[in-house]
Amino acid sequence: MKVDGTHYRSIWFNEVTYDVGIIDQRWLPSEFRIATLKTGDQFATAIRDMWVRGAPLIGATAAYGVAMEMAADSSDQALDHVWHTLNETRPTAINLRWALDRCRDHLAPLALDARPDAALQLAHEIAEEDVETNRMLGVHGLALIRDIAAHKPQGEPVRVLTHCNAGWLATVDWGTATSPIYHAAEAGIDIYVYAGETRPRNQGGITAWELGSHGVQHAFIVDNAGGHLMQHGMVDIVIVGTDRTAANGDVCNKIGTYLKALAAYDNNVPFYVALPSSTIDWSLYDGVSEIPIEERPVEEVTRVQGLGQDGKIAKVSITPPFSDISNPAFDVTPGRLINGLITERGICDASTDGLAGLFPEHVILKGKLP
Ligand code: MRU
Repeated sequence: MKVDGTHYRSIWFNEVTYDVGIIDQRWLPSEFRIATLKTGDQFATAIRDMWVRGAPLIGATAAYGVAMEMAADSSDQALDHVWHTLNETRPTAINLRWALDRCRDHLAPLALDARPDAALQLAHEIAEEDVETNRMLGVHGLALIRDIAAHKPQGEPVRVLTHCNAGWLATVDWGTATSPIYHAAEAGIDIYVYAGETRPRNQGGITAWELGSHGVQHAFIVDNAGGHLMQHGMVDIVIVGTDRTAANGDVCNKIGTYLKALAAYDNNVPFYVALPSSTIDWSLYDGVSEIPIEERPVEEVTRVQGLGQDGKIAKVSITPPFSDISNPAFDVTPGRLINGLITERGICDASTDGLAGLFPEHVILKGKLP
């Protein structure tokens, strides 16, 4: 999508320097910085410390990490090492494991000298697939927004609330939750987005930044405002992303998503989740009890980062030194609170039957349900 009129992706390969460029998201929305990654360890740091983030982008980054490692050392040991190093970085987003398994399955049977090129080719494929998948989420999600627009009084925008950043910066391009929004804007539909702040890391600021940079009207709101807006008829639809979706339609996403879903349910506001199928964990049958929730460093809660009065990025402490701190990074929204899952194959119920209808190749898993 666009930043000041220039098209960017969140990750790209530099053929001349044979390394990988990323937008270093730690500094957004205050500063737009680019970083370069070359070694497997650098890729692991970038994922763990959230230079890159968002489930689909984490997967694509891991694939490029494997490719760069294979260029340096294509042995079985190196493949095994980079798989483990990257897999340990973030536990909740299943796209990480999905991409790493795909790389290992593809590369392990190959001769050592064929691995570097094959690994890079596969990383490109994973990145391109992500762009196309997210484009399709937008095509399907646009139908929902069109329908709402058709029933709005003349001159009123369709108002979408989203949480965290499930935008193009969380994917390779388009975003998941934002793809229907960008498609609606391109189709000339009047659209207005409420971007929830998303404490503790304030990914809502990234969402506001990318929407604004692309010319989409929006408001940045504190997390606690979402329920109030829904109660007063100011939200037409909620669309969020997910880091892992269980086979029963339960959705794990950024902490606070569950509260948005409860408020939407109580106020009859449609609540949709946009997801590439790479985010579905077909091995889990109950998202609430089975999805591992990442616990992140307490410093994310005790300190807040922003631009100081001197125009420089600074962190300030906001908690007393003696308080216990807890920082679960995700929560799980049960499928019963979700109106539908927007996938690259269409929209379905957030249930085993709904998912099995769109992805029949996985229908066998239904037989394993308790
Ligand atoms: O901790 P983050 O910033 O990586 O969490 C990101 C989210 O929760 C997104 O909503 C999710 O990955 C979907 S991204 C298209």
